[in-house]
Amino acid sequence: MTRTNHFFGKDIVSIKDFSKDDLEFIFETTDKIRKLKPDEKSEFGKGRTLGYIFYEPSTRTRMSFEAAMASLGGSSIGIFDSKFSSIEKGESLADTIRIMDLYSDIIVLRHPNDGSSRYAAELSNNPIINAGSGSEEHPTQAMLDLYTILKEKGRINNLTIGIVGDLKYGRTIYSLLYGLKNYQVDIYLISPPTLSVRSESIYEIRNKINIKQENYLDEVIKKLDVLYVTRIQKERFPDTQEYEKVKGTYKIDDKILENTKTDLSIMHPLPRLDEISHLVDNSPKAIYFKQAAYGKELRAALLTVILNECPF
Ligand code: CP
Repeated sequence: MTRTNHFFGKDIVSIKDFSKDDLEFIFETTDKIRKLKPDEKSEFGKGRTLGYIFYEPSTRTRMSFEAAMASLGGSSIGIFDSKFSSIEKGESLADTIRIMDLYSDIIVLRHPNDGSSRYAAELSNNPIINAGSGSEEHPTQAMLDLYTILKEKGRINNLTIGIVGDLKYGRTIYSLLYGLKNYQVDIYLISPPTLSVRSESIYEIRNKINIKQENYLDEVIKKLDVLYVTRIQKERFPDTQEYEKVKGTYKIDDKILENTKTDLSIMHPLPRLDEISHLVDNSPKAIYFKQAAYGKELRAALLTVILNECPF
């Protein structure tokens, strides 16, 4: 079946803006991009410029977008440390977006405020990609997470997925939950009571997805096909004493993995602190570095279909 490219010229602000069919179109495009030789995909971004503006630190998102654009024959310019831009002199987000819009064909924005990407999309003529907006969403992370599950488990349906850690402030998990609502999955949300999921942020899907909430991982972990671990987001706590109370609550180590399914897959959007022991990295269950690798390819697919109406 040929799917229509609904991504051409579009903003990627929220995963809620995309249907299951749209997500599967991106997954199929990612498969196609991965099969191409370098010279076969270098036309998709030729002569085009990606502009990135990061008001918060990033390693994977920024570099994978930049690497993806380079793989398509395009170039990147941007601000990755606002101290070295006119943002430091007080220039507004609106003016920063307007200027980047003049110099680039597509803009990748990370900003600490919820709603920042939607606002930028209203100002920009060129497409905006949300690379993280406050505690609200990180839609391309969720797309690559779903793609990773599909490739590593062979399906998304009929899996039992645990999401553990900071479910209050972790923006990736809100995009992921909205993406998962398109599939038949059982979800365990595991967090300290003070870091449980913001119920108002999932009210639209609460009755469309099978969610159970837990505080302890030890019993739940035995049931899981996928364990998605998240970092406690120190930078988003209004009070550092509250962070001190919950830091280190969960630790994935060799011992806890003894009680898991043999084919459990452990994911993490990264960066990790101490929530996954480095000793776990060598386990076949650890797929978080593969997940980061899929990120570059999925983002190359996204850029391809945003910039080209009929690339294939
Ligand atoms: N997963 C993720 O967003 O990583 P960075 O903060 O390094 O971009």
